[in-house]
Amino acid sequence: MPLNLASIPGDGIGPEVVDQSFRVLDAAAKAAGMSYQKTDFPFSAAHYIKTGKVLDDNDIVALRGFDAIMLGAVGGQPNDPRLAGGVIEKGILLKLRFDMDQYINLRPVKLYPGIETPLKNKTDKEIDFVCVRENTEDLYCGLGGIMRKGTPHEVANQTMVSTRHGVERCVRYAFETARTRKLAGYRGHLTLVHKTNVLNFAGDTWLRTFNEVAGEYNDIETDYHHVDACCMFMVAKPEVYDVVVVPNMFGDIITDLGAAIAGGMGIASSGNLNPDGTGPSMFEPVHGSAPDIAGENKANPIAAIDSMGLLCREVGRIKNDDAAVKAGELIGAAVQKVTPTFAGKNLDRSGLGCDAIGQLVIDAL
Ligand code: IPM
Ligand code: MN
Repeated sequence: MPLNLASIPGDGIGPEVVDQSFRVLDAAAKAAGMSYQKTDFPFSAAHYIKTGKVLDDNDIVALRGFDAIMLGAVGGQPNDPRLAGGVIEKGILLKLRFDMDQYINLRPVKLYPGIETPLKNKTDKEIDFVCVRENTEDLYCGLGGIMRKGTPHEVANQTMVSTRHGVERCVRYAFETARTRKLAGYRGHLTLVHKTNVLNFAGDTWLRTFNEVAGEYNDIETDYHHVDACCMFMVAKPEVYDVVVVPNMFGDIITDLGAAIAGGMGIASSGNLNPDGTGPSMFEPVHGSAPDIAGENKANPIAAIDSMGLLCREVGRIKNDDAAVKAGELIGAAVQKVTPTFAGKNLDRSGLGCDAIGQLVIDAL
């Protein structure tokens, strides 16, 4: 059965980088004997401005039938009042993550060949870990409210939600990731990142769950870091990390730092995973829509192409599609053959066209 892919190119540079990711997929699929079909969806800030529509329940039903979703970027011009209050983020991105139960946000932090890190004396030996960010709970639930709004006695609260079920499935996924990586020669080490010294309720659920599950994984070494210390380690000693498991909000913050130490947002890939396969997983470059260079063939599609590799490997595993896994491995290897092209250059302003970079990856397959 061909993999059934939905594509949401979105806004700004989204369409051009997603185009390149599918061109690369075509070539990799051919080489690996994988087959797929693709359906495009228009969801984006531009579509919302035109139609007043983000995603409704019928769209969710339609998207649920797919094996995976490739997303470029959604978001308009910064500070556009028509998009205030996170309507696009909540109405498209977070809605998909929540409704499709994509409870893992997988964000590799790996320094690729030729890519420059801002960290002095750190190489690909030291910067090579993966963040497992919980993706459906925490401050992202949108629980809370404002009382007496606009008065001197205004009260705002926003609730951090951690359920045993949600925490445990994420922690288990992280232990499994550490185990899989160990088979591939990594240390078999997992760090929980939280702020248990202040968040004594949510942190307690996380830490107890982590320690209990650790008892089932005697082959995995564990550690715990407060999130502030984690930021320091990521800059000063990133080699302490192999796999990091982290709640949603802290995970959002530290994975931007992770992208920065691995060369920048222009190269960061990610997967929003529903590992149980009860809904499609979604893959996206971490970068935004970069409206300033949209349509100028200047965007670097590497993060989108690498996310496509991740899509093939992860969804291939979830769906037992070996040819897709193979295609994903080919794409991942080709990306790392191409990144030395950017040595000494600004990744996002390399002077190479979006299509030319896509072609470099195709040639390296
Ligand atoms: C990310 C983004 C989103 C998040 C925003 C756009 C809602 O920053 O994917 O990291 O906070 O998760
Ligand atoms: Mn973010």
